Amino acid sequence: MVVKINENYLLLKSSYIFAEIAQRVNKFQEENPKAEIIRLGIGDVTKPLPPTVLKEFKNAVDEMGQPDTFRGYGPEQGYSFLIQEIIKNDFQSRGIELDSDEVFISDGAKCDTGNIQEIFGLDNVVAVTDPVYPVYVETNVMAGRTGPMDEEGRYQKLVYLPCTAENDFVPSLPEEPVDLIYLCLPNNPTGTVLNKEELSRWVNYARENKSIILFDAAYEAYIQEDNIPHSIYEIEGAKEVAIEFRSFSKNAGFTGTRCAYTVVPKQVMAYDSEGKAQALNPLWNRRQTTKFNGVSYPIQRAAEAVYTPEGQSEIKEYINYYMENARIIRDSLEKIGLNVYGGVNSPYIWIKTPEGMDSWEFFDLLLNEVHVVGTPGSGFGPSGEGYFRITAFNTLENTKKAMERISKLSF
Ligand code: MLT
Repeated sequence: MVVKINENYLLLKSSYIFAEIAQRVNKFQEENPKAEIIRLGIGDVTKPLPPTVLKEFKNAVDEMGQPDTFRGYGPEQGYSFLIQEIIKNDFQSRGIELDSDEVFISDGAKCDTGNIQEIFGLDNVVAVTDPVYPVYVETNVMAGRTGPMDEEGRYQKLVYLPCTAENDFVPSLPEEPVDLIYLCLPNNPTGTVLNKEELSRWVNYARENKSIILFDAAYEAYIQEDNIPHSIYEIEGAKEVAIEFRSFSKNAGFTGTRCAYTVVPKQVMAYDSEGKAQALNPLWNRRQTTKFNGVSYPIQRAAEAVYTPEGQSEIKEYINYYMENARIIRDSLEKIGLNVYGGVNSPYIWIKTPEGMDSWEFFDLLLNEVHVVGTPGSGFGPSGEGYFRITAFNTLENTKKAMERISKLSF
């Protein structure tokens, strides 16, 4: 007898894109210890926690050290003080009503968008936009829903919806019926947003085809333009067909602190083998109560502080800061003749690589010549080949320095 592995793991690329980049950058740094590398690769924030958030975080840590205010296990779904603030500020303010047991606090949208597929059958057909946040694809690979990858880098059983400059990075509705659709808006990596009318088409498609949309809104705080929905539930009927993921990482600097939430409306249904509709909300609740013990009390208090008036104005300032970086990146790269997309309602700038250069060649050029790190578009899927992603999350100083360095290159 020998222990068998989950062979689906053998279908994955050898490493996760951001781990691979880190490895290459570390190697370069070892070989070039004097190089001052500027990292515009992984979308990690650089500004510290907002002061109001930090204050409440510390107060809650102190509470944990006192017998009267100490807390042990909290509710797996999250504390109601945070859930109430989320519902009031993120949804009721946009005319959306949610019950408190429709919101699940977690330690990250990466985990939730990765874990959600567990409550769906393995024979569902999954559609992803291409390029795409790799977590959606790779967690389905691990589960055995995708089959092997073909020579062009596409998993055989996944439906890919290409988003390139030719279609303005707006995915078309699937030609064949699909069951699960991952949508990330504002999009990581392309920065694309959909307006209400465009998003309504997806909701209508899902209602007509009994599909479910897994809607990742981790970057909604970066939306600057009007008429762009911040939540999919702004679209009529979406509560029947969509699960939404949100995060405190990118709006309030929680990438290292970890707090996010997922909305699973009670109306959203999938079907058992007898064709009977089953609500997904109790299934997700069952999954979370079994596998997750909730986010720590101080972190949930820190997240609650995001919704105070001071917290709101502090995070607005942070977002404006990063969006100014985005503007600088766009302007600088356009000036040197590159085709630049995104960066208007999103902290990501999506660039067409110079003629004759693929994504990794451009990565190597920037790393070797000017010591700037970005993310090769091909790491997000086959349609990302020939593109490159730069984040606006570094400091203003580093962003300017990186753009000055890149501007000296000629393509
Ligand atoms: C990214 O760079 O795409 C993000 O940092 C990934 C994430 O949020 O996990």
